[in-house]
Amino acid sequence: MPSILDSKCILVTGATAGIGRALALEIAKLPSKPKVIGSGRRQDRLDQLSEAGIEGMQLDVNADRETLKKFVDNLVNKNPDLDTIVLCAGIQRQFNFQKEVDLDAISLEFNVNYFSVVTTITYLIPHFVRLAATGRKCSIITVTSALSVIPMPLVPNYCATKAALHSYTMSLRAQLQSANIHVAEIVPPLVESELHDAEGTTERLSKFWMPLDEFTNTVMEGLKKGDTVVAAGNAKTHYEQFEQPKEAIFAQTTKALLQNLN
Ligand SMILES: NC(=O)c1ccc[n+]([C@@H]2O[C@H](COP(=O)([O-])OP(=O)(O)OC[C@H]3O[C@@H](n4cnc5c(N)ncnc54)[C@H](OP(=O)(O)O)[C@@H]3O)[C@@H](O)[C@H]2O)c1
Repeated sequence: MPSILDSKCILVTGATAGIGRALALEIAKLPSKPKVIGSGRRQDRLDQLSEAGIEGMQLDVNADRETLKKFVDNLVNKNPDLDTIVLCAGIQRQFNFQKEVDLDAISLEFNVNYFSVVTTITYLIPHFVRLAATGRKCSIITVTSALSVIPMPLVPNYCATKAALHSYTMSLRAQLQSANIHVAEIVPPLVESELHDAEGTTERLSKFWMPLDEFTNTVMEGLKKGDTVVAAGNAKTHYEQFEQPKEAIFAQTTKALLQNLN
C-alpha cells in the first residue's frame, strides 16, 4: 500500500464531522501538500473546511445511482489527479427485533454504509485503472469498525453493514491488485464523534470512547507507513485475533480464482 504522502489529490467522504473531518484536516496539513476534497451533506460545515484549504463538494450518499455517477464524473473531470478516496460517511442506528423495526431505517443504514460505498467505488475504478496504468499510486480506503469483527446486538444492522464492507474490502483488494490499485481498511474502535448523537447515547459512550485526536494520530501514522489495515484500541486486538488468521487462507484460496478472473 502506498503511503498517504504519495497521494496528490484525495476525496474524503463524511468530512463534515468526526473521523472524516479530523482525517481531512490532518491530510491537508501533510508536507506533501495534497489537494483535499471533503464531502458531506452540511454545506455550513463544508464552508468551514474551506478555511483549512479543503474544497467542499456537497453530496447526500443516500442517493440513486445516477446521482452518484454524476458526482463521480464531476469529481474526476474537475480533478483528473484524484488518486485516493477515503470513504468515511456512515450512520448508526439501534434496532430491537422484539419490538417494531423500521425497515426503511434498516435500508437507509445499509445504503449509506455499504451500497453507496460500493457504488461510488464502482464508478471510480475506471479512472483509477487509467491513472494507475500511468504509474500513479492509487488508493481506495474504506472505514469499517471493531463491530465488523464482533457485533454489538444493540446496533445489529450497523454491524452487518460493517461486516459486509470488511468482506467486500478484502475481495476488492485481491481483485484490484493486478491493476496496481491499493485497497486499505481503517478499523476504528469506539471513537469520539457525532455518530451516536442520533440515538442520544453520546454522553454515556463518551466515558469509554477513544479521544478523536489519539485515534487520528494512530490512523495518520498507519496511512503514512502505507499499512493495509489500520486499526486502534480494541479494534486492533479483535482484528489481530480473529481477522488476521483468515488472511493467509484467503490469499491461498483466491489465488487460482484470480488467475481466471484476469
Ligand atoms: N465513532 C465511532 O465510534 C466509530 C467506530 C467505528 C466505525 N466508525 C465509522 O467511522 C465513520 C465516520 O463516523 P464518525 O464516527 O466520524 O461519525 P460522525 O461524526 O457522525 O460523522 C459521520 C459523517 O458521515 C456523513 N454522512 C452521514 N450520512 C450521510 C449521507 N447520507 N450523505 C453524506 N454524508 C453522510 C456526515 O456528514 P453530513 O451529516 O454532513 O452528511 C458526517 O460527515 C463511519 O463510517 C462510522 O461507521 C465510527
